[in-house]
Amino acid sequence: MMRLNKFLAGCGVASRRKCDEIIADGKVAVNGKIVTELGVTINEKKDKVTVEGKTVKLPSSFVYIKLNKPKGYACTASDEKGRKTIYDLIDTTERLFSIGRLDYDTEGLIILTNDGDFANQVAHPRYEMEKEYRVTAEGEIKESELAVMRKGVVVDGERMPSAKVEWLSFENGFTKLSVVINEGQNRQVRRMFEAIGHAIKLLKRVRIGTVKLGGLSRGQYKDLTEDELNSLVRVK
Ligand code: URA
Repeated sequence: MMRLNKFLAGCGVASRRKCDEIIADGKVAVNGKIVTELGVTINEKKDKVTVEGKTVKLPSSFVYIKLNKPKGYACTASDEKGRKTIYDLIDTTERLFSIGRLDYDTEGLIILTNDGDFANQVAHPRYEMEKEYRVTAEGEIKESELAVMRKGVVVDGERMPSAKVEWLSFENGFTKLSVVINEGQNRQVRRMFEAIGHAIKLLKRVRIGTVKLGGLSRGQYKDLTEDELNSLVRVK
């Protein structure tokens, strides 16, 4: 038995909270009968559930993978501009969801799963999952500029969340840094560097929580290990 909102989230309909709204709106039927109360449980093995008349099903088994997204791939299932997407890289018939996204021009670690409920939960900002990036930026970045980013740069009159920023090297006109953020505001790292006036040449995510990109080459993916998965589940 399973709560209906958890079942719907697991099918990838939406987050549990959003599924509650969908149920309350009278869009969900169990065995042909519209259900509008919240907190209903169903038999996920037997009951037939529809959303706006369409049958929804849990995946028969869950997959959890990590991918090294190359630059030049979108993180959406179908890109409105017809660009390549991360789903072109993965050989599966499963419908996968990414836990968080990366910009088209950003590369690095993306976690994907067909477990919609898990994806929604782990991506939720309340878990403040650390995300670590390697940044190569134009010019020599000074200690005073690092201090500004650590405190939270001001973009369009709004202070960005503070970040952990570590200087790694300066070579051939480019500074390399490690940047760790908790929140995932849209284009957060790029906006931080725009605000201090240094263009980003390369942005790569190397870690989400305890899961590291490791030795995956660009475009390569593999299953999360049990330990990696457990470390994400613990924050759930
Ligand atoms: N910050 C960005 O600016 N872009 C990303 O893709 C991720 C974090």
